[in-house]
Amino acid sequence: MNNKSENVVWHHHSVSRDLRSTQKGHKPCVLWFTGLSGSGKSTVANEVDYLLHQRGVHTYVLDGDNVRHGLNGDLGFSDKDRVENIRRIGEVAKLFVDAGIVVSTAFISPFKVDRSMVRKQLTEGEFFEVFIDTPIEVCESRDPKGLYKKARAGEIKNFTGISSAYEAPEQADVHVKTEGKTIEECAAVVIQALLKAGIIA
Ligand code: ADX
Repeated sequence: MNNKSENVVWHHHSVSRDLRSTQKGHKPCVLWFTGLSGSGKSTVANEVDYLLHQRGVHTYVLDGDNVRHGLNGDLGFSDKDRVENIRRIGEVAKLFVDAGIVVSTAFISPFKVDRSMVRKQLTEGEFFEVFIDTPIEVCESRDPKGLYKKARAGEIKNFTGISSAYEAPEQADVHVKTEGKTIEECAAVVIQALLKAGIIA
């Protein structure tokens, strides 16, 4: 992206990240859920959010379908727009981490290079790529929004997994194979990873 903001100097604030973290009693991080449409990203992110909230963790969820109604309402599904979609979410997620929050993002985010760009923007250990691994046949059979049917009929262009690529993570920080698992079991895999990493106690 061309940065058009010239003569703008970063302002340092008195309340530091560490102070925020100490006040909250946990570390901040991004839980970057990635997976096909219908894989269960939003559902598992929602359950993780609920479990964390119950533990007193300060959380927020940024969800693809919702963010595309507002902040990213001007973006479609071309490769270029998806890249910009993820870039903006990465920036927003970074702000949430700065504010001391455990922020979950639920976007298909199909391209490896974009996911790793977001990782690079964050401090080591503050970005968890959570692969919601559901085979496309399962996603397509669920088809909760009827989008796969439309994509197969050629009514939706650039549909992920059908006419646009999904580059699965090779080394996700958290790999959730959803087949045969309940939502609660999938969420527990993520919570365990956060405990192990010392984000929550
Ligand atoms: S991303 O690829 O840019 O990360 P994002 O997660 O924001 O996608 O949005 C995906 C959601 O938009 C899907 O869950 C689906 O409901 C809807 N959608 C509409 N058109 C498409 C499309 N062509 N490909 C994938 N998802 C689409």
